[in-house]
Amino acid sequence: MTNSSERSVWATRLGFILASAGSAVGLGAIWKFPYMAGTNGGSAFILPYIVLTIAIGFVVLMIEMALGRASRGGAAHALRLFGGRFWGGVGKISVLTGFLILAFYQVIGGWCLNYLWDACLGNGLITDTAQLGAYFNSFVSDGARAVFMQIAFLALTAGVIAFGVEAGIERISKILMPTLFILTLFLIVRGLTLPNAWLGVEYMFKFDSQSFNGTSLLNAMGFAFFSLSLGSGSMMNYGSYLPNSVNLPNSVAWISFLAILASILGGLMIMPAVFAFNLDPAAGPGLTFVTMPAVFAQLPFGQGFAILFYICLVVAALTSAISIMEMSVQFLVDEYQFSRGASITINTFALTVLGVICALSFGLLSDCTVAGKTFFDWLDFLTSNVGMPIGAMGIAIVGGYLVWPVMKKQLTLTQPMNDIVLNITHFLIRFIVPCVIIVIAGAGLLG
Ligand code: ALA
Repeated sequence: MTNSSERSVWATRLGFILASAGSAVGLGAIWKFPYMAGTNGGSAFILPYIVLTIAIGFVVLMIEMALGRASRGGAAHALRLFGGRFWGGVGKISVLTGFLILAFYQVIGGWCLNYLWDACLGNGLITDTAQLGAYFNSFVSDGARAVFMQIAFLALTAGVIAFGVEAGIERISKILMPTLFILTLFLIVRGLTLPNAWLGVEYMFKFDSQSFNGTSLLNAMGFAFFSLSLGSGSMMNYGSYLPNSVNLPNSVAWISFLAILASILGGLMIMPAVFAFNLDPAAGPGLTFVTMPAVFAQLPFGQGFAILFYICLVVAALTSAISIMEMSVQFLVDEYQFSRGASITINTFALTVLGVICALSFGLLSDCTVAGKTFFDWLDFLTSNVGMPIGAMGIAIVGGYLVWPVMKKQLTLTQPMNDIVLNITHFLIRFIVPCVIIVIAGAGLLG
């Protein structure tokens, strides 16, 4: 990115796509997708996720970025500018949602750092499958270590932000995103050649109408939003840095495609191995971390692969965390005229406090639950299934109803769009997106 006198802009279209894909593709694909699929009936979660991302996520992301570019501001500013005070308030909910995502996201970033550290020490390979769960549990319930790693991850995130967006985000994304992709493909091939691995593929894709229910649909919708970082301020913020010369629909199509691809690949990397090693697909948030050491143990040069894998995973997590923190840092600068340094400090401090509580949710505070959910679980659930849908609703109403001509101009700035495609987009954002959000959120939350 380069800084103009008014606001930074992305230096190249590729840099923008990679950084936005870096924001979208993170722990969601490799950590959250496999365990959500595992706890929501496999295909009953995956198939709706794909459909919802294409039909809803893609359109909302396009309008979210268009609002950001048209307003040259973050969610609170853009929605207030185009929709008035009420929708500005919804924009603030989006910003809060993003901030709360980072509060628990950093904990998983810390887990990645811990596994990287262990892999470097030669502890990243476990052949005895009975040991896999015990190894993970002993780490996450060891509060001091989990908290140390979480704080280290947050410090890395804040460090990149403090050094400036271009130096940090663009450079890191360009090298390590493709590396992660290639490595994942390699690990999938290894996983698929293990005995019983195809049961995992079947679990992911075999259509079973019996297992669909309101909860799995709500979780699929929540994950579709989570994986594209929708309605949480960060994509609108990235859109605000986008020069007018970039073709928005085309770029967003790429970002959405990469996000779906990454999740499917993440699932294909974990699920076959889960079945091959007779692990429980419904094991919950630890699933990826319980499974991968067994896969590395089956590889020649397993330690080297483990190190490379966790480096890429840390970077994938970092690019997402950076986009979220950049958004909440920019929020205090834009809305309350804090200096950038002060905003980074305040965000880091507040996130540290919340992050410690989240990290301890797996150990010391694991018994502090409300309706069976820990503090970590609640943040995870509420941000994806409530905060992001509210943000997406704001985007749909403001973009689809209040300033559609502005959106239309944004979508056609570089290239005319076929009228039919434009009308379908308008129809989706005005009617289908709000209805789907209301119906799925209602069905999932009420029952
Ligand atoms: N979209 C980000 C991820 O999936 C938050 O990791």
